[in-house]
Amino acid sequence: MTSNASLVELTNQHLIANYGRLPVAMVRGQGARVWDADGREYIDFFPGFGAGGVSGHCHPAVTAAIKAQADKLLCCGNLFTNQPQVELAQAVTQHGFGGKVFFCHSGAEANEAALKLVRLAAGEGRYKIISFNQCFHGRTMGALSLTPEKFQKGFEPMLPGSVKLDMGELAAVEKAIDAETAGIFIEPIQGEGGVNVPQKAFMQGLRKLCDKHGLLLVCDEVWTAPARTAKWYGYQLHDIQPDVMTLGKALGGGAPVAACVAAPKWAGVLSPGKHGCTLGGNPLCAAAGVAVCRLIEQENLLAKAKADGAKIVKAIADARIAKVKQVRGAGMMLGIELDGPGKAVFDRCLQQGLLVNLTQDTVLRLAPPLIIEQSLLEKGLEILIAAMRA
Ligand SMILES: Cc1ncc(COP(=O)(O)O)c(C=O)c1O
Repeated sequence: MTSNASLVELTNQHLIANYGRLPVAMVRGQGARVWDADGREYIDFFPGFGAGGVSGHCHPAVTAAIKAQADKLLCCGNLFTNQPQVELAQAVTQHGFGGKVFFCHSGAEANEAALKLVRLAAGEGRYKIISFNQCFHGRTMGALSLTPEKFQKGFEPMLPGSVKLDMGELAAVEKAIDAETAGIFIEPIQGEGGVNVPQKAFMQGLRKLCDKHGLLLVCDEVWTAPARTAKWYGYQLHDIQPDVMTLGKALGGGAPVAACVAAPKWAGVLSPGKHGCTLGGNPLCAAAGVAVCRLIEQENLLAKAKADGAKIVKAIADARIAKVKQVRGAGMMLGIELDGPGKAVFDRCLQQGLLVNLTQDTVLRLAPPLIIEQSLLEKGLEILIAAMRA
């Protein structure tokens, strides 16, 4: 018989301990609920660390697409094309700024592709990239170079020309730009950094600086898209258009698919031989991604994200909890900043059967699946509010 304890023991024996794992093994999920190996049920306000952010666990539309595709064509080298990949590219671009798509499997990989694209597009001698403190762009060496120093310890040297500045300081950004600068990477809302929302004027200022100095603006939408902020893409909150955006996490509904999307002007930069990914855009994961995009359209999930997000914000405000300093975010990408460490609140939620995330020590992060039914949203909120009150 498997149990949490037996699976955790086997995990400790056989898996590299690079994650600070909880002593819980998940065995089954459905919608906004997930069950562990001891048969305990949880309401999941953070499914798959964002991967279940739209469709939750095992959404029937996603699993049906995967099953159908599994019987049809499972792998297809990228010297050929395949229908699900094309359909997913169409779905992704039609709700954004058009352009063209490169597929891979993870957010970090999508950012690596964006980095290469930016360097090529900017031209010889321009290699410097500006990113922002408290950002998170991934763990591979390029993406890591753009991410704060605390994640880089021991892996130095990083990519030369990685410049980190404070979000909001437009004058400092302009001062940092020189003839070697190629681009700027920014999350339309920082996730890992504590759900920090840049001001619209700052984002619009970055766009103008990029235009003025011939730089590419890259929006890392790995957390903010699709539909999490109640917009298809987070950049749409700021009324700007990036040159490149990267997607991952929720795009595949749990299947690993990520993307680097280049605006029409830059869509030809990665010409044959410049980049690749054997399994990128494979038919199985692409079919799952198409199902996720259809779900957003058919179930009107943008409007639902807006309404459900507002419901969460109101419930927390109405509860008037002294230790809540601020609730911030957009749509269903929300952070609750507490006046001190949130570990005890996190633990109480877990004990009471609610999964949330804690980041930066003091910020509870909520990203419930957009398909969540009202009864589970309300029950989860009850647990959360009680846990913050205790
Ligand atoms: C904004 C952002 N970009 C990139 C990544 C890296 O994604 P992955 O873990 O799929 O490589 C993350 C991961 O949390 C992220 O939050």
